[in-house]
Amino acid sequence: MSKTKIVIIGVGAVGATTAYTLLLRERADELVLIDANEGKARGDAIDMNHGLPFLGRTKVWAGTYEDCRGANLIIVTAGAAQKPGESRVDLLRRNVSIFESIMNEVFKYNQDGILLIASNPVDIMSYFSWKKSQWPVHRIIGSGTLLDSARFRYLIGEELGIDSRSVHAHIIGEHGDSELPVWSLANVAGTRIEFDDEQRDRIFRNTRDAAYEIIAAKGATYYAIALALDRIVTAILRDEGAVLNVSTLLQDYHGVSDVYLGVPCIVDRNGVREVLKLELSDSERELLHKSAEKLKGLIRSIEV
Ligand code: NAI
Ligand code: LAC
Repeated sequence: MSKTKIVIIGVGAVGATTAYTLLLRERADELVLIDANEGKARGDAIDMNHGLPFLGRTKVWAGTYEDCRGANLIIVTAGAAQKPGESRVDLLRRNVSIFESIMNEVFKYNQDGILLIASNPVDIMSYFSWKKSQWPVHRIIGSGTLLDSARFRYLIGEELGIDSRSVHAHIIGEHGDSELPVWSLANVAGTRIEFDDEQRDRIFRNTRDAAYEIIAAKGATYYAIALALDRIVTAILRDEGAVLNVSTLLQDYHGVSDVYLGVPCIVDRNGVREVLKLELSDSERELLHKSAEKLKGLIRSIEV
């Protein structure tokens, strides 16, 4: 039986936490850690291997880009991260430059895996990776607004006193300041969630601005994103057909085209199988267009 191999490029806060999450949940037979800081990758690999007597049999090693050969999944969390007060978009030029070098290496050794991008601004980094790869779009996925939707569902659940897994609600658009809440479809057991304006504004504001609060408090966010990445990995490796708000290339999505944005997608072993077109209110559609225009302007600025 063929082995499942996952490569993680960038083992800083997000990448290392993701690697550890995948290890604990025994998602892969082989877990390869790559980082410009080779000592970090090597140290993390040794440290994780010492935990294997408490876990199953996963081979973890610090590798080189040649180890991308035969990988099912290549997760990219490498790059600059926001400092307190910085926006995700502020990272754009630094991370485009970093991705330029990373993707040149990845594509030397792998042409048929799935790329899962987390580095910010994630929608643009995903679009950039797709354009550079010329791979079919379904195999280049951004973590999108899966994390944002999880925050949204958690906050709604807290407000209602209901398990967040029973709250169905979507944040779509940019993983960033122009993201939007689809209140018109938010529901519990198919019953619409009727909040007043104060509740809606507070919950969405706390969702959208969560990263700023966490980064100001502890310097970075990494636990929830690691779990979100694990969720996407599982949907792919188990061929689940799960509906997840990942970032993918939209074409004529309520009139939005040629930009990666987070929307509900069916995710299976081939990556994004299908994009689900939500019924949006007029105001939600307008906000989606604003989010798309913001990102398309930034894409033009990097001349991808
Ligand atoms: P970090 O600074 O802790 O880790 C970044 C790692 O990338 C470092 O270990 C660094 O050595 C490595 N790196 C830098 N340049 C590299 C290169 N050319 N090749 C290989 N490795 C390289 O940062 P952190 O907190 O892990 O965040 C990583 C990225 O993930 C940031 O862009 C951050 O904004 C993003 N992020 C995205 C989220 C999402 O929801 N999509 C959530 C949280 C973070
Ligand atoms: C977050 C940022 C770091 O949403 O993208 O956690």
